[in-house]
Amino acid sequence: MTTTPTPPHPTATVTGHDDTARQALTPRDPAASAPPAPPAPPVPNAGSYNPAATTAGGMAGELARLEAQAALSFDEELSLLRELGLTASGGPLVEVGAGSGAITRRLSQAMPDLSLVAVDIDPDLLAHAEGAGAELVVADAADLPLETASAGYVLLRYVLQHLPDPAPALAEARRILRPGGRILVTEVDASCWGLAEPAYPELAGIHAKMAATQQAAGGDRTIGRRLTRLLRDTGFTEVALRPFATTNDTRPTDDFAPHLGPGRLQPLLTAGVLSLREFALAADRWNRFRADPNAWVMLLGFTAAGTAPDAPPGGRHTPEGIQ
Ligand SMILES: C[S@@+](CC[C@H](N)C(=O)[O-])C[C@H]1O[C@@H](n2cnc3c(N)ncnc32)[C@H](O)[C@@H]1O
Repeated sequence: MTTTPTPPHPTATVTGHDDTARQALTPRDPAASAPPAPPAPPVPNAGSYNPAATTAGGMAGELARLEAQAALSFDEELSLLRELGLTASGGPLVEVGAGSGAITRRLSQAMPDLSLVAVDIDPDLLAHAEGAGAELVVADAADLPLETASAGYVLLRYVLQHLPDPAPALAEARRILRPGGRILVTEVDASCWGLAEPAYPELAGIHAKMAATQQAAGGDRTIGRRLTRLLRDTGFTEVALRPFATTNDTRPTDDFAPHLGPGRLQPLLTAGVLSLREFALAADRWNRFRADPNAWVMLLGFTAAGTAPDAPPGGRHTPEGIQ
């Protein structure tokens, strides 16, 4: 698959490679002990994705969070992707918004015959996907330097929730997919993030502030409920939605720290969105939760899939594909 940018394209090719703090309870974040790094400015066009404002510990903290988040639910997600049509021979798979390659690397290990392309708008983050088993491309999801009808799959994981308008990114995904190719979108919805027992209703105001902060930055933490409609509106057919659950029945409660811990709250405290009292409350509840041997948590994610129709917009059909 060719990934040559077309000048004057505002992208560059690198060779070689949400969301989703659903609920924040606190600290025990691996990033908490990392040396403080100066906050990086947000990457233009990355929507509400701004680790400096959402994750403690700068780049090191964000890498740890993305890694822990992928480790937590990859097995469930992979079996769902297979159920929704992912096969090793049906590639290439273009992972748009691949970030540090936490999922890319796992996909490559689980399906070594699947050809992978990892795309992200943030070159610094994408550089960490070097060696993940994919070709790396720095580009905006809404303007991909990839050929029409050249991909078998497009995967967007925890990316759409950050975009002020997901439609251009979905249209680009449709353009680069071969007829019959599949789009796979993994997301959350803040209103059904999951269940925890014991529950702490006193944290509801904190969670609402987190969602409002993302919304104010152009994101949408309730995008889960819109996924199938967004795919149909883009022209995808055979649209399906599957939930996946991750519980502490099969993994330690501490593995849920990226979602439930306070790592995501620290920047909100710094920005004055949360008070010290709120932060301390969340930290206390997380510490109570993780110390309780009977505590149970289930996080819910969603994967939506759709099929690219026969006639992609733009491009000309040949037996070999689109030119
Ligand atoms: C929450 S991270 C998810 C990373 C990766 N998908 C994962 O699950 O580990 C969101 C990613 O989307 C990327 N992103 C945000 N806006 C983008 C855009 N307009 N085009 C391409 N990537 C974008 C960010 O740079 C970031 O890497």
